[in-house]
Amino acid sequence: MIRIIDVHIDYTQGAGVFSSAPPELVHALRGVSLDINTNDYVAIVGPSGSGKSTLITAVAGLMPVIKGDIYIDKHKITRARRGRQAKLRGRYFGIIFQFSEMLGRFTVEENLRFAYAAAHGQLDDAYQERLQYLAKRLDMFALLTAYPGKLSGGQLQKTAIARALIKDSAFILADEPSGDLDPESVARVKRLLREEHERGKGILLVTHDSKLASDAKSIFEMRDGQISSHLK
Ligand SMILES: Nc1ncnc2c1ncn2[C@@H]1O[C@H](COP(=O)(O)OP(=O)(O)O)[C@@H](O)[C@H]1O
Ligand SMILES: [Mg+2]
Repeated sequence: MIRIIDVHIDYTQGAGVFSSAPPELVHALRGVSLDINTNDYVAIVGPSGSGKSTLITAVAGLMPVIKGDIYIDKHKITRARRGRQAKLRGRYFGIIFQFSEMLGRFTVEENLRFAYAAAHGQLDDAYQERLQYLAKRLDMFALLTAYPGKLSGGQLQKTAIARALIKDSAFILADEPSGDLDPESVARVKRLLREEHERGKGILLVTHDSKLASDAKSIFEMRDGQISSHLK
């Protein structure tokens, strides 16, 4: 279970080299609390700037919190040492970031292989099965031998989704996974997330696309760094 307890996060803005103005604090998250169980599918929808990406980064242990804490099972990921945060992240989460980078010198399939091996220590039959499954669901067999630098935005996004899901972790954190995709691919991603949920995964999806979110078991709305309503 992921427990998000009264999390506050600030950014400092305007403290640039060329700026004489005093830095300004942006309150990106202002007291967010939420539980996501292993078998939950939770979506958070909200306009750009409402704090969705900040929340995903915080759950992933990549963002310092001002106040509040986030637990995964009994482990606290906030305020833990970096190495420990990375370990928890690797063990529990498949993360689809809004902007993610592939290793450019390796093919798509090699990128997927590395992600799997990093989590499981080796390649095994389960890897091949998972690869076939994801490539089929995302219609990306033709991309596997390509180099990331040659791919379009939408193709890269599919690759990022496959890389996040290949290791088959307990939770999926997804930040705008459909941003660059054509409608058919959005439908594919939607179905894939639903199937992953049916296979017992906990999902936290944040998106401005309420159609993509509509399969979730619970849907919340985020405004100005707070969960403002429970839509479903
Ligand atoms: N790196 C950053 N530095 C300063 N302010 C940021 C940074 N990232 C996000 N913000 C601000 O934090 C708020 C929440 O941003 P974000 O979490 O990206 O929202 P969303 O994902 O919903 O679009 C916005 O006001 C945004 O401008
Ligand atoms: Mg965002």
